[in-house]
Amino acid sequence: MITSALPYANGPIHIGHLAGAYLPADIYARYMRLKGKDVAFVCGSDEHGVPVTLRAKKEGIKPQQVVDKYHTINKKAFEDFGISFDMYHRTSDPLHHETASAFFKHLYDKGVFVEKESKQYYDEQEKQFLADRYIVGTCPKCGNENAYGDQCEKCGSTLSPEELKNPRSALSGNQPIKKKTKHWYLPLDKIQEEWLEEWIDSHKPKGNKQETEEWKTNVYGQCKSWLDQGLQPRAVTRDLNWGVPVPIDGADGKVLYVWFDAPIGYISATKALEGSEFRVHNSEFSWKDYWQNKDTKLLHFIGKDNIVFHCLIFPAMLKAHGDYILPENIPSNEFMNLEGDKISTSRNWAVWLHEYLEDFPNKEDVLRYCLISNMPENKDSEFTWKDFQEKNNSELVGILANFINRVVVLTHKYFDGVVPEGYEFNETLRLKIEQSTNVIDKHISSYQFRAALQEFMNIAREGNKYLTDAEPWKLEKGDPKIPQVLFDCIQVCGVLQKCMEIFLPFTSKKLATILKIEEPQLQNVAPGTQLGKPEHLFTRIEDKDIQKQIDKLQNSKKQNMEANSSIVNPQSEITFDDFMKMNIKVGTIKSAEKHPDADKLLKLEVDLGSETRTIVSGIAQHYQPENIVGTQVSVLTNLAPRKIRGIESQGMILMAENTDGKLAFVSPDKTVDSGSEIR
Ligand code: 2FM
Ligand code: ZN
Repeated sequence: MITSALPYANGPIHIGHLAGAYLPADIYARYMRLKGKDVAFVCGSDEHGVPVTLRAKKEGIKPQQVVDKYHTINKKAFEDFGISFDMYHRTSDPLHHETASAFFKHLYDKGVFVEKESKQYYDEQEKQFLADRYIVGTCPKCGNENAYGDQCEKCGSTLSPEELKNPRSALSGNQPIKKKTKHWYLPLDKIQEEWLEEWIDSHKPKGNKQETEEWKTNVYGQCKSWLDQGLQPRAVTRDLNWGVPVPIDGADGKVLYVWFDAPIGYISATKALEGSEFRVHNSEFSWKDYWQNKDTKLLHFIGKDNIVFHCLIFPAMLKAHGDYILPENIPSNEFMNLEGDKISTSRNWAVWLHEYLEDFPNKEDVLRYCLISNMPENKDSEFTWKDFQEKNNSELVGILANFINRVVVLTHKYFDGVVPEGYEFNETLRLKIEQSTNVIDKHISSYQFRAALQEFMNIAREGNKYLTDAEPWKLEKGDPKIPQVLFDCIQVCGVLQKCMEIFLPFTSKKLATILKIEEPQLQNVAPGTQLGKPEHLFTRIEDKDIQKQIDKLQNSKKQNMEANSSIVNPQSEITFDDFMKMNIKVGTIKSAEKHPDADKLLKLEVDLGSETRTIVSGIAQHYQPENIVGTQVSVLTNLAPRKIRGIESQGMILMAENTDGKLAFVSPDKTVDSGSEIR
């Protein structure tokens, strides 16, 4: 039973998501299927929770409309990239509501929960309790002024609303009051003592090397640190009107906490398999085989921000229920960065899957390849467009496609495309390849997908070397070495085709057509097979295509900047929270000079009180450098630094633009201290 974290249906999917929780699970599922294992691989949209309702409010639409939109977009994106879910379900589906509801009721009836009244933040204007992301304030750990009630996105800390300093409502910006309310808590403190700590301890990795079936060090380490701090009872209900209603009397206006219902989504998705295509191939199957059978191996693939929920809270729920198995492993990945910066949806610093395919049609496998080879398995990793180009051109085109193409072309040249008959696969080569496939097996079984992919490429390297060393094109026509070498190389292509089914499924299909392989099975390419026409499985990516992507990213940064500083358009309201993201200060220009390489730019040194920053500003046609020294201006200080024509600009000067395009500084009407906050 394989699951991938259910993505929130409040935005599209980007490469970081794919590399984090979906590609690793897909490779694992594909590999297990290839080995003939009985696999169910499920996922779906996480459609409840405050991020969805906040987005709906922002866009002036209903939460259901938000999730309908992104469920469709994300489901398609996963299909487009070959993520082989047996079911992509959704948590707004009635089947899920029933399942989550029954799960809660079972725990309630067993007396698992602790019922507690407490005072919680409440927005009097909006007449609403402020759970999770409805409340924002200053993070007690890092000072981020825009931390959420459940998490600080800057330092990654998990928070509770009570921990926030200067709490304010994300809906109105008002200071909340405290109001009494009743909720149900999962007594994690008691559960920790009873069995959870012992269970986590039993998964302590033995050494530094990742062994098969062992938990990753980062996963175990994070759990341990939670346990060391002592788990607290956790409320599993909320005062909200979007979610699964709490199925007991006296709970009107309350829903299940999104992190209570979401993982149950894995179970609902498996139940949904019973009415799907899956049933056609597995007529005997019942969802219970995957969740309630001790012989089933349950695996959750997730990103590191989900560790606590999958390693502590969900297992606590499953065990408390009593009928379920516990996960055997939770292979969690770290994060993937993009071009030197954190991937960010709000800053539009991302490669969106649907946009990628518009720019690189039919190159799904190139992205898969790059993401796998850079997968953030043990530490954060980095995606750059240059590396993407390099990997495509030198590895996929230069090694993999090149080898296969040479083999198919030569077979056509010498034998009209017919696989030579009467030959045995060269024993030395066969053993080498077998060794590689064993290595791949070991790596995949221990969730080391980067290493597995590298070993897959080693097979192509080995094939290339064998062909190049044998130089059949130099032999005289009729030399029996020619058919032997080509027969061997065709067998190597056959092995590559099977491995590709795991990593590069689209290319695997193309190669299967050429090699006339109908089913993904571990057998040789039969002698006498008439091969299809040679085809370039990968093609070069040119500099201009890469530059376009780099420009696009820079552009989105610029647009984001402009959007942040533009006059609020009543049609696209921003929340107070959005406004508070900007750190704007009064700066005093200390020096100004023309940019050596650009007519429109000035290079400024701006005093911000506690520091002086270099800022490159596009105002050279509006001001003479010598006239502006000493002027006080408005500076956006928390904009990510950006190189502009070779000089790093560490902020942005805000300008008023007249209808005729003339620019003017936005200055205080009397002198203030440099560094004064603008709010
Ligand atoms: O972090 C997230 O994107 C969550 N929506 C993951 C949920 S995983 C599971 F529990 F459903
Ligand atoms: Zn923080």
